[in-house]
Parts: sequence; C-alpha cells; structure tokens
Amino acid sequence: MAFKSLKLSLFLFLALFFASSLAELPQHKETGMTLYFQDYSGGPNATVIEITGPANDGLLAFTKFGTIFCTDDPITEGIDRESREIARAQGLYVTSALDGSNTHVLISVVFNDEEFKGSTLEIQGTSAQFERVREVAVVGGTGIFRLARGYATFETIHYDPSLHHAIIQCNITVLHY
Ligand SMILES: *[C@@H]1O[C@H](CO)[C@@H](O)[C@H](O)[C@H]1NC(C)=O
Ligand SMILES: *[C@@H]1O[C@H](CO)[C@@H](O)[C@H](O)[C@H]1NC(C)=O
Repeated sequence: MAFKSLKLSLFLFLALFFASSLAELPQHKETGMTLYFQDYSGGPNATVIEITGPANDGLLAFTKFGTIFCTDDPITEGIDRESREIARAQGLYVTSALDGSNTHVLISVVFNDEEFKGSTLEIQGTSAQFERVREVAVVGGTGIFRLARGYATFETIHYDPSLHHAIIQCNITVLHY
C-alpha cells in the first residue's frame, strides 16, 4: 500500500515537473535570409587562397583531392558587390571527394552590421561543388542564433573570369531560440 502511494506521488511529481518545464521552454523562432557572398578567387584582393600551395599555373586546384582553402568573403545584403556589407564568410574549404566533386565546407557567417551584428552562424558539411544549387547544414550559432540549426543553399549567380569574381546567393533557414 505504502509502495503504491509512493509510486503515485512519484508519478504526480514527475507529471508536474514535466508540465512546468514544458511551460518554461521558450519557443523556437524561424529566421530566413538571403545573403550574397562576394568571392574573389584571384587577383590582388583575393578572398579565397589555397593553403596547400597553388599549382604552377597559379590557378586554384578546386578539384584536387586534399586541397585546402582559406576564405574571408565579404557578404553583402544585395547582389551588387558595392552594396552594404553585413557579414563575412570566414573559414575553410577542403576538397574531400577523391574525384574532386565534393568540397567540405567549414565556415562561420560573422555578422558585422545591422540587426545580427555580433552573432554568428556555423555552416558545416559536404557541398557538391559543381551542382547549380548546393545545400549545406547550419549546425550552430552564437548571439541571437544560440542553439541554431537549419540549412543553407548556395547558388553561383554571376561569374566574371577577368576579375576572378563570383557572386554566390546564399539562402539560410534556421530555427533558434
Ligand atoms: C584592391 O584593394 C585596394 C585597397 O582596398 C584597392 O585600392 C584596389 O583598387 C583593389 N584592387 C582591385 C583589383 O580590386
Ligand atoms: C533563394 O531565395 C531567393 C529569394 O530570396 C529565390 O529567388 C531563390 O530561388 C532561392 N534559391 C534557392 C536555391 O532556393
């Protein structure tokens, strides 16, 4: 009898505990944004360089397995490279498929202007680098993006070989508190 009532009170306690912790859990917010990476893969102001050493022709070996790149692309709010910079894409790319088709992306979107200033998003995963649209996971964040998770799509919408300049449209969808 005593055992039964102990079980009952334990059950009530747990039920109350779960009810109150559910009530206190803040709701997830969903944030979506479209950003533009201004990527310079050559020239005096390159924003992506090959750490493992460029080949003799001076071109970056994007398809060579094991090649590592470091990047610091300006991110603008509009397509135009002269439009306002709101973040930087800082991190690494590693050509991670033997046949050169995939690159492993490890970048932080470091917001430096406007409403997200001081916050970051962490993008990590494999990217089918020669597909028109690449999708990579968003695995975390800081500041207003604490505990973020979601996904990002990348699409190269402009390339000017004379300037080594590519504009990559990046759509991000994240859940965060
Ligand atoms: C590189 O950056 C410097 C300093 O900001 C600038 O004066 C120069 O015009 C840039 N060069 C090119 C090719 O964009
Ligand atoms: C990204 O978002 C823009 C609108 O902001 C849309 O036109 C474009 O199709 C989207 N790209 C992808 C790959 O979903």
